[in-house]
Amino acid sequence: MTPELRETNPRKQTLLILGATGDLTARLLLPGLGVLLAGGGGEQLLLIGSSRDGWDDNRWRQRVADSFAAADATGAQVDAVVRGARYLKADVTVESDLRRLLDACQGDVAIFFALAPAVTVQACRLLADVGLPEGTRLVLEKPFGTDAASAEALNDLLGRLVPEDQVYRVDHYLGMSTVLNIVGLRFANRMLESALNAEHVQSIDIVFDESLALEGRAGYYDGAGALVDMIQSHSLQILALLAMEAPSTLEARDFREAKAAVLRATRVWADDPVTWSRRARYTAGEIDGRPLPSYVDEEGVDPGRNTETFAEVILEVNTWRWAGVPFRVRAGKALRRLCKEAVITFKQPPWVPVGLTGYDRPDRLRIGFDPDWLRVDLNINGPGDPSVLDPVTMEASFKPGDLPPYGEVLKGVFDGDPTLSVRGDTAVECWRIVEPVLAAWRDDQVPLQEYPAGSAVSDDWPAPQQPAR
Ligand code: BG6
Repeated sequence: MTPELRETNPRKQTLLILGATGDLTARLLLPGLGVLLAGGGGEQLLLIGSSRDGWDDNRWRQRVADSFAAADATGAQVDAVVRGARYLKADVTVESDLRRLLDACQGDVAIFFALAPAVTVQACRLLADVGLPEGTRLVLEKPFGTDAASAEALNDLLGRLVPEDQVYRVDHYLGMSTVLNIVGLRFANRMLESALNAEHVQSIDIVFDESLALEGRAGYYDGAGALVDMIQSHSLQILALLAMEAPSTLEARDFREAKAAVLRATRVWADDPVTWSRRARYTAGEIDGRPLPSYVDEEGVDPGRNTETFAEVILEVNTWRWAGVPFRVRAGKALRRLCKEAVITFKQPPWVPVGLTGYDRPDRLRIGFDPDWLRVDLNINGPGDPSVLDPVTMEASFKPGDLPPYGEVLKGVFDGDPTLSVRGDTAVECWRIVEPVLAAWRDDQVPLQEYPAGSAVSDDWPAPQQPAR
C-alpha cells in the first residue's frame, strides 16, 4: 500500500482470496463474509478473487452474490462489495503474477490462502522475495504443514514475511460461539470450575461423529484422514479450552498462551499409541436411507493409502489439575448419528447413602457443538418413590452466534485481533501430540478396522477402552 493511499482513504481494505474458485470459498468463506458485511463489519472492502481458472469479474461477482444470498446476507454494504468485487486469473507460483495481485490491492491487505498446503508454501516463498505491503495479514487454512517439522518450517517462512500477530491460522471451531462459551462456562461459574480437576472428574470425551461421508473431498481428505482432518486441529483446540488454566484476560497474548501451556503438557496416554489409539474406515452402507459406497470406491481415493475415516486416541494432560484423567478424542465420518460434543464425566460419589437405590449413571456435563446446547446429567430422588434415584438432564440450548464461524474468523482478521487464530508454536505442538499415533499407524502397528457406513460407534470395536483409574 502506498502512503498516499493510506492517507486519503484510511479505512479501505482488501481481502485477496487465493484459491477463490474452490469449494471452501463458496461454502464457508463467502457466506461468513456476507453475514459479517450485513452486520456492518468489513467496511470499505475490496474483495479480490484469484485462481488459475479463467473466470472474469462477472462470474466471480455471481459466485460472491450467490454465496451471500445463501447466507441471507443483504444490505447496502453487501451490495457494494459484490459490485466492486474483482477477479484476477493468476498462478501464485509465478512471481510476476503475485506482483500483479498485490498491485491490485488497496488499503490494508489480508491475503486468504484457500490453497493446497504445498502451493501455499510455494506462494509464501515467492512473497518473501516480492515483499508485502506493511501491515499485511496472512490467513491460512488447515492443515498447517504436514507434521511438526514442516509446520515449524512454515512458521519460519511466515516469520520472514510478517510478524506473528499478523498470521491467522484458521481453526473455524474457534470461531464457534459454543466453543468460546467453554471459557465463559468454566471461568464465570465458581460452582463448575472448582469441580473440574482430577479429584472430581473421571474422564473427558471430545466426540465428532459425523453422518456425512467424503462428500467429494477425496483430493484433500485421502491425504489427511480423520486424525489429521479433525483431531490434530479442532479436537485439540477444544481440549485446550476445556483443560487450560484461567487466562487473566481474553486478549490474544493471555488467551493463546493459556492454550499453548496446556497443549505442551498433552501427550498420548502412557506414550503408548499402539494400545491407546484405534482407526477404521467405512465400507458400503446406508445412512438415513441413502446408500453410500465403500470409502475405497469413492472417486479419487487410493485404497493403498489406508486412510482412516474414524480415529480415536486417548490423551493425558500432565498438569497438577488433570494428571491421571483420560481425554478421549474421537472423530469419524459416515456414522449413524451426528454427535459433536464434549462430555465431562464426574467420578462416582464416594458414598451414596444406604437407602437410596438406583444409582446407575454418573453425573456429567455435556457441551454440544452444532446444534449448540449445554446439558447437565444429574441423579435426583425426585418423582415417585423418594428412595429411588432418577436420572434427570437439565438442558439449555443456544441460538447460533451472531456470526458464523468464518465470519468470526474474518472479523478477527479485519480487526487485527489474532485471539481466535492458532499461534505458530501451538500448531507445531498439535502435530507433536498426534505424531506418535501417525507413526504407529504408518508402521501398521494398529490394525485398520472397517465399519459399514451408517454404523453406530460401538464399544465392541477393539481398544481403546478407558484406561483403568
Ligand atoms: C472441517 C473438516 O474442518 O470440519 C471436515 O475438514 C468436517 O471434514 C468439518 O466435516 C466439520 O465442521 P463443522 O463446522 O461442520 O462441524
